[in-house]
Amino acid sequence: MAMLRLSLLYVSISFFTFSVSIDECGPGLNFCDLSMHLIWTKCALPCDGIRKRETLMCCQQTKLKALNRPDCLQMCNKTLKDIIEERPCAQRCDHGTYDIKKICHCQPGYGGQCCEIATVNSGGFAKLRDINTGAHYSTSTYIGQESKKVMVFHFDFEPANHCSEKKNTCFYEPINIGPDITKQKLHISWDGWTDELAGIFRYNWEIHHLRADARGNLTEVSPMEPFHSKAMVKEEYKPFTYTPPGPGIYSIILDVADKANNSRFARQFVLYDPVSNITTDETFKLYVSSAERETHYNWQSNVQNQMLIGPSLSVSWKGHFRNKFHEDNQLLNSINSFHGTAIDGMYHKDVDNELDDMSGKRTRKAIPNIHGNVLFEIAYAVDHQGGKTITEIPTAISSWKKVDNLLHENQTIDVKRSDGDTVRIWVRSTDIMGNVKEDSTVVHIDTTPPTISAVKIETNVNSTKFDFASR
Ligand SMILES: *[C@@H]1O[C@H](CO)[C@@H](O)[C@H](O)[C@H]1NC(C)=O
Ligand SMILES: *[C@@H]1O[C@H](CO)[C@@H](O)[C@H](O)[C@H]1NC(C)=O
Ligand SMILES: *[C@@H]1O[C@H](CO)[C@@H](O)[C@H](O)[C@H]1NC(C)=O
Ligand SMILES: *[C@@H]1O[C@H](CO)[C@@H](O)[C@H](O)[C@H]1NC(C)=O
Ligand SMILES: *[C@@H]1O[C@H](CO)[C@@H](O)[C@H](O)[C@H]1NC(C)=O
Ligand SMILES: *[C@@H]1O[C@H](CO)[C@@H](O)[C@H](O)[C@H]1NC(C)=O
Repeated sequence: MAMLRLSLLYVSISFFTFSVSIDECGPGLNFCDLSMHLIWTKCALPCDGIRKRETLMCCQQTKLKALNRPDCLQMCNKTLKDIIEERPCAQRCDHGTYDIKKICHCQPGYGGQCCEIATVNSGGFAKLRDINTGAHYSTSTYIGQESKKVMVFHFDFEPANHCSEKKNTCFYEPINIGPDITKQKLHISWDGWTDELAGIFRYNWEIHHLRADARGNLTEVSPMEPFHSKAMVKEEYKPFTYTPPGPGIYSIILDVADKANNSRFARQFVLYDPVSNITTDETFKLYVSSAERETHYNWQSNVQNQMLIGPSLSVSWKGHFRNKFHEDNQLLNSINSFHGTAIDGMYHKDVDNELDDMSGKRTRKAIPNIHGNVLFEIAYAVDHQGGKTITEIPTAISSWKKVDNLLHENQTIDVKRSDGDTVRIWVRSTDIMGNVKEDSTVVHIDTTPPTISAVKIETNVNSTKFDFASR
C-alpha cells in the first residue's frame, strides 16, 4: 500500500516571532537534514547585542500536518544550538559602559557612538647602549603630538562569496583560466566575488604542482608552500597570463580576503603539457589475436561471408600505446581535496567543495584512461593483393569506429573476407591532450590448414593466392 510521504520544511520567518510554512525539502535532503541558512537578524542597538541566524531543517511526516520548531527539534534529537548561530553585533561598546538603555558612554580618551574613536598620545623612548660593553648609556624620551585615531570594529566573520555559490545565474567561474587541458599559456582572471560587509580587500593567487601520493591520488605536496604566489590589493587586479614551468598537472588557489582578513579559497586545476606524446612499445605488440598463434598471428584460417557468417577478427594491443609521461606521473588520477594548516595550527587554508574545481574537463574526478590513452578507434581495409593496396591510413571519418571498451585494449570486429584476402587493421590512440598515434597490423586469410612443422620462414614464395607472401 502506498503511503503518502510529505516533506515539510520548517521555516521561521524571523527569529523572534516564528511561523511555519510547508514546503518541499528539496532534492537530496532527508528527514532532519539541515539546509539553507536564513538571513542574520538585525542588531537592535548600534553598540550592543548579538545577531542570530537560523538554519532550516527538513521535517517529514506521514500526515499533512505542519510541525512547529519544538516538535521538529524533538523528533530530530536536536537542540536550538544546532540550528541557531549567534554572533556579536557590528560594533561593541568596548571602551565605554552601557547605561540602562544600553547606550554606550565612553571612557576618557574615547569617543564616537560606540566609543570606537581613541585619542592617543604618540611618543616613545630610545635606550642607548654601549655596543662594546652592552651597558646602558642613556634613555631619551620623545613626546609626540596628540592625535586621534578612528578604530572601527567591524565584526565581520563572514568571508567573501562567489556568485556561483548562489542559485541565481552567474556567468563567472571562481577562477577562469580558459581550457583546463592545454598546451598554451594560461589566461587567468576572476570575477563575481563579493563580500557583503567589509568588502574585498586583497587577492592572493598561487600555483602548486600536483603529485601522486602513495595511494595514487594527486595532491598538493605542501599546501602552505606553493612554488609561486602573488598577492595584490583589489585595485591592482587585472587579468594576466602565466606559463607553468613545465608539463604537469597544477592547481591554482585563489585566496580572496576581505578587509577583516577573512579568507575564502577557490581552486582550479590545469593540465598543461605542450611536450609529451603517445609512443608505441614494440615489446607489447598490436596483433590479430584471432589469427593462428603458430603463424605469429599473421594468418587466420577462417572467412566471413557477405552475411557476416563466420568468425570475427579480434585485435589486441595491450600495453602497445602509451603516453609515458601521463602514465608515469598518474596525471589523470583523482585529486584530493585541499586542506592546509599553518605550523602554528592557527591558520587554516581550506577549499570548500562549492569553490573547488567541479567544471571543465579536469576536475577532481579521475579521467578514465589506460596507459594515458583516453580513446581508441579502429579501422580496417581488405584487399586481394597481399595488402599492397591498403597501406594508407584511412582518412574518412566513417572508417573509424570507437572501441567498445577503452580499458580492454582489444576489439572484435566483423570483416567480410574470403580466402586469399589480406586484412589491415589500424588502431588509433588519442591522449587527453588530443595527441594521436596510429599503428596497424596485417593478417592474411588462408583456409588451408597451417603446416605447423614449417618453423622456418620462406620469404617471397610463389604462391597461387598471393604474388608475394611469407610463410
Ligand atoms: C532520537 O533518539 C531516540 C532515542 O534516543 C531514537 O529512538 C530515535 O530514533 C532518534 N531519532 C532520530 C531522528 O535520530
Ligand atoms: C583516491 O581517493 C579515493 C578516496 O578519496 C579512493 O577511493 C581512490 O581509490 C584513491 N585512489 C585513486 C587512484 O584514485
Ligand atoms: C591576513 O592573513 C594573512 C594570511 O592570509 C596573514 O599573512 C596576514 O598577516 C593577515 N593580516 C592581518 C592584518 O591580519
Ligand atoms: C606527437 O607526434 C606526432 C607524430 O607522431 C607529431 O606530429 C606531433 O608534433 C607530436 N607532438 C608533440 C607535442 O611532440
Ligand atoms: C579483451 O580484454 C579483456 C580484458 O583484458 C578480456 O577479458 C577479453 O577476453 C579480451 N577479449 C579478446 C577478444 O581478446
Ligand atoms: C611464379 O610462378 C609463375 C607461374 O605459376 C611464374 O610465371 C612466375 O615467373 C613465378 N614467379 C617467381 C618470382 O618465381
